[in-house]
Amino acid sequence: MKIALASDHGGYELKEKLKKHLGGIGAEYVDFGTDSEKSVDYPDYAEKAAEAVLSGECRFGIVICGTGIGISIAANKIPGIRCAHCHDAYSARMSRAHNDANMLAFGARVIGEGLMCDIVDAFLNGAFEGGRHEKRVEKISEIERKYRK
Ligand code: RB5
Repeated sequence: MKIALASDHGGYELKEKLKKHLGGIGAEYVDFGTDSEKSVDYPDYAEKAAEAVLSGECRFGIVICGTGIGISIAANKIPGIRCAHCHDAYSARMSRAHNDANMLAFGARVIGEGLMCDIVDAFLNGAFEGGRHEKRVEKISEIERKYRK
C-alpha cells in the first residue's frame, strides 16, 4: 500500500519528517514534491498527489502546505478525492470511519512533527465503517456528478 506525498514550500520540511516517520513504520510512499523551500503553488502539488490516488498508484495521499487549507481545498476540487484537513487524531480516525477519506492534509505552520505522526497513524489505522455512512459518501459523489461540466 503506497502513500502519495506532496507539499508546497511551506510544507516541505514537515514532509521530510513525514517521510522519516513513514519509513519507520514500514509504509511505502511516493514523493511528488516539492523538493525545496523555493516558493511554488500548492494546487500543482495537490493535483499530483490526487492523481496518484485516483489512478490507483497510491491508496492514500498526504498533502502539506502552510496552513493545510489551500492544498486541501485544491485536492477536494478533484472528483473522487475526499481530503480531510485534520489537526487532531480523532478527526483523522473519523475521516476514515465515516467519510472514507482518501487524502489527509496538514498545515506545517500549525502543527509539529509529533502531533503529525499521531494523526498519520490514526488515519492509516482507521477503517471505513460503511453502513449508513455509505449512503452519505455516495451523496458526495452525486454532488460531484451534478456540478461536473
Ligand atoms: C504559502 O505561503 C501559503 O499560502 C500556503 O502554504 C498555504 O498555507 C495556503 O493555504
